[in-house]
Amino acid sequence: VSSALVVFLLSYLVGCTPCGFLIGKFNGLDIRRHGSCNIGATNVRRTLGRDWGLLCFFLDFFKGYLPVLVIGHGLGAATAVGFEWGGIFAAFGTVLGHVYPCWLNFKGGKGVATSLGSVLGVAFWPVLIGGVFWLLSFLRYRIVAIASMVAGVAMAFTAFVMRVAGNDKVHWPAVFLLTILAALIIYRHKENIQRIRDGKELAFGKIRR
Ligand code: G3P
Repeated sequence: VSSALVVFLLSYLVGCTPCGFLIGKFNGLDIRRHGSCNIGATNVRRTLGRDWGLLCFFLDFFKGYLPVLVIGHGLGAATAVGFEWGGIFAAFGTVLGHVYPCWLNFKGGKGVATSLGSVLGVAFWPVLIGGVFWLLSFLRYRIVAIASMVAGVAMAFTAFVMRVAGNDKVHWPAVFLLTILAALIIYRHKENIQRIRDGKELAFGKIRR
């Protein structure tokens, strides 16, 4: 149990690095006061433009991917946690760090980019299918929040189908992880859901100032 906790906590700390917030500060603003007030890549893109948004996406993505590889699989395999469970604990840790970062009073992002990265360290196909669904939904609705929620559900569903079909690249703990992440992503979009219902969801394009 103690090594599982170490894997989780170390990954949580990595996840707490608020990339979008730091990019905002670097550009002289508090991203939490602009656009949707979220610290994620979408709002960085909306507030500071495409290049900063892309940088934020990649940083948040690798903030999910690397802890699963290094802390989860590496440390996990070297301890009683084991390779597979190490990856699961690390993925949970880093996404929770992004969503509830200790440095920002536990008010962080919505977990999409970091979930994609961390899940890539656990299972490849759910990320690919999730990415395809993200793109298709975005092209259809032009709203990132909808695409993100669809991608979260598509990842979990893909993992479930793979497991039920007997694919041994996806084990039940991974299905459990992806189901929790999909629920977390939807929960974190509750304000977006309200805005979409009210027809007031913010566009993806750069805010003119
Ligand atoms: O990844 C977050 C995205 O789905 C929504 O971001 O800024 O439009 O609330 P935002």
